[in-house]
This record gives sequence, structure tokens and C-alpha cells, in this order.
Amino acid sequence: MKILKINGGKQLEGTVSISGSKNSAVALIPAAILCDENVTITNVPNISDIDALEDILEYLGAKVKRTDNGEISIDSCNIENKPIPEDASKRLRASYYFMGALLGRHKKIEMYFPGGCTIGARPIDLHLKGFEALGAKVVQDNNKYTITADELVGNSIYLDISSVGATINIILAAVKAKGTTIIENAAKEPEIVDLASFLNSMGAKISGAGTSNIKIRGVSYLKSCIHEVIPDRIEAATYIMIGAAVCKKLTVENVIPEHIYAPLQKLLEMGVDLHIDGDKIEVTNKNKLRKVNVRTQVYPGFPTDLQQIIASLMTQAEGESKIHETLYENRFLNLYQLCKMGAISKVEGNKATIRGKTNLVGTDVSATDLRAGAGLVIAGLLASGTTTISGADYILRGYENIVEKLKKIGAKIELIQI
Ligand code: EPZ
Repeated sequence: MKILKINGGKQLEGTVSISGSKNSAVALIPAAILCDENVTITNVPNISDIDALEDILEYLGAKVKRTDNGEISIDSCNIENKPIPEDASKRLRASYYFMGALLGRHKKIEMYFPGGCTIGARPIDLHLKGFEALGAKVVQDNNKYTITADELVGNSIYLDISSVGATINIILAAVKAKGTTIIENAAKEPEIVDLASFLNSMGAKISGAGTSNIKIRGVSYLKSCIHEVIPDRIEAATYIMIGAAVCKKLTVENVIPEHIYAPLQKLLEMGVDLHIDGDKIEVTNKNKLRKVNVRTQVYPGFPTDLQQIIASLMTQAEGESKIHETLYENRFLNLYQLCKMGAISKVEGNKATIRGKTNLVGTDVSATDLRAGAGLVIAGLLASGTTTISGADYILRGYENIVEKLKKIGAKIELIQI
């Protein structure tokens, strides 16, 4: 197990550069097996979720070449359609993209319910609804799924919830289906636009990505392409919040501000001193912070992935801030850890309050999931004394080189393997 040890209470300063988006890369890599030729993806973050996907690709027989500078080349011409074992399925949530990709390529897939952060039940009923609408048969045996189709035929599919995963999985299954598929009430996240642009570069015919209505006209052949992963909007907002918490001046580079419009608006509401300059955002912690109310929503609303992170900043804001989590039923475990550091917080159902300004004190805490862990990093940087965060493996799943990036701006942080 890995532990992060932070000696907090310091003013940091410098520049961080944002890596490729985890939630885009984990969809692009399974999507690559739909290509009939070799495909290259660049700006892939070096995080453990990517390692897990690479292992699944190689297990299936794909030829994978990965460089140290974030480039991955994938040749799926000779992949076999083998059942994906339970342990591989469970290593991450995004393993389920192999359902759509292998169904789209081989019209058959056997795998298990995916892993991922325990922030709620996270069912996959909408994914399965989409596959069945395209003509697939789904057989579920406990947590094992066998999905087969004689033929995949385009259809109109309404998503009861604008699910990111279901939208992506249906696109993957529909790209080579016969005829046209329309996804209604589709998710609009930037990662879906990135996936559509990747597949369209290979010759797919996808329109409307980024809107609630996505049209996919089936094609029979997908050619080679090179695609660069978009910057990680959640990582970007995380470092901007670190800047607002503990930095005399922080420049966050390689950002698409439009992708984090809602979080930036909330930070401005709090009184954060930030300035947007093209693909750079400069932020300082010089202003007194005001309480703020956050309600998580699907894109372009305030992302659920950031509520556990802004919660740590809310401890420094005067007054009682509020969080309303509308997507997941169990995404407040970080607040109990924050309270161990001196935060004043209450949770009632899917609503929480955080009263500030409180001085946090370092202690032993544990990361219960990826974004909870990121929130505790901010708390540790804020707190006086030393904070140890167990479960740091969660954090390394989603933040490339987080220790190096924080050390570079002056943080006293180290990763300990125990
Ligand atoms: C993606 O998860 C992200 N993960 C999550 O980020 C993110 O929190 C989430 O989208 C919402 O933005 C990846 O992209 C790998 P959903 P996903 O399907 O696709 C319910 C992180 O920290 N739902 O949009 O699993 C579901 O239970 C991770 O990087 C169904 O009911 O999210 C949830 O309440 C955490 N049935 C809501 O929809 C379904 O079939 C949104 O889930 C699918 C989803």
C-alpha cells in the first residue's frame, strides 16, 4: 500500500502543466480495438488506470507500444475475443468500455461487472439497454455478463440519465453497426467529444457529440490515425483549487477554460483571485474566501468529481458552504476525514455543509476514493504539521506525477511504499 506524507502550512509558488485526460484516455484505449489498422494516441497520462487497460489489451492479443512521453500505439489486427477475467474487469470502472468495443468488433463479449471508486451503486443498466436496442442479447450470471449479437443494427436509444459511460459504450457498439443510431439525452462531457473526434479521424461517422443528441452512421472499416488526448479538466481544476488554497502564485498551464466554466464561476463566487490567459490560468490565495453553494450536475454543470475537492477549500471560506450531490449516493466519505483535521462539516443524505474558516491540523487520514484523496491532498497542504494519507494508490490512479508536480512548486510531500 502507498501513503502520501505531507508537511503542510507552506506557501507554494510556481507552474504546473496539466496532463492528458484520464477519463478520455480510458475510453480512447478500448475504442482503439475497433480500428482495422494500427492507431496511435498521444498525451496519454502515465497513471495506473492506463497500465490496467494496457494489460487487458495485451491479454486480448493486441500489440501495444507505449513510450515514456505519453504515446501509445495499438495494433488490434490479431486480437482474440477471449472472456475478460474478473480480476481484470475489477481493476477500474473503464474496463466496461471493452463491452462496447468488443461487441462492436466481434459481436460477442464476456466480462464481469467493472471496478471503480465506491461512490455509489453505479449500475450499468443503461449500457445494457443500449446494447439490446442494437440487437444484442445480454445474459447476466451474478456479476458476469455475456453479450452477443448476430448482427448490430442502428436504433434510437433514449438515456434515462445522461450517463457518460453509457453514452460512450453505445457509441463504441454502434460505430460499425448497420444503419444509423441516435442517442437521445446523451451525456455532453468533453471526453465524449474527444472520443468522437478520435473515431471520426479513423473514418467513423459520428455527429452531435457534445450535444444531447448524437447520431452514429455505421461504417465497415476504420483506418489508422494519430490522436492527442485533451487536457484533464478535473486535474486542472484540482490544481487551481490548490493554488487558491496555498499558493502565493500558481500558473496552471495546458488548460481548456471552457471545460471548467462552472467550477471557475464557483471559485470566482468564493472570491478566489484567478485570471484566465488563453490556455493558462493564474491563481493566488491572497483573497479572503466567501462561502459558496455547489450543486453537482452533468456537464456543463459543476462536476461531481470536483465536489470532494472544493470541499477542502470551503474549510477556508468564511461562513457555511453547502454541497448538494445529485449524481452519487455515497460521495461524502472525505468529509469525515476532513473533520479529523479540524473541519466543521455535517452530512444529511445527499447534502453536506462545511463551516469556515477553520485552521486544519495534520493527522493520519485515509483516501476512500480517487477524488476524496485529491481533496485530502489540498487539506494536507493547508494543514499545520504533518498529514499522512493512506490509500494513496487511489490518488495515483488519476493524477499523473502528482508528487513531482507538487514538489516542483515547493510542497514538502513524499510517497511512501509500506
Ligand atoms: C464517469 O463515470 C467518470 N468516470 C466519473 O469520474 C464521473 O464521476 C462520472 O462519469 C460522472 O461525471 C470515467 O469517465 C472513467 P455515469 P460513469 O454513467 O460513466 C448512474 C473519476 O473520479 N447510472 O455518468 O460511471 C450512475 O449510478 C470518476 O474520475 C445508472 O444509473 O458515470 C450515476 O449515479 C468517478 N445507470 C450517474 O448515472 C447506468 O447504466 C452518472 O453515472 C449508468 C449510470
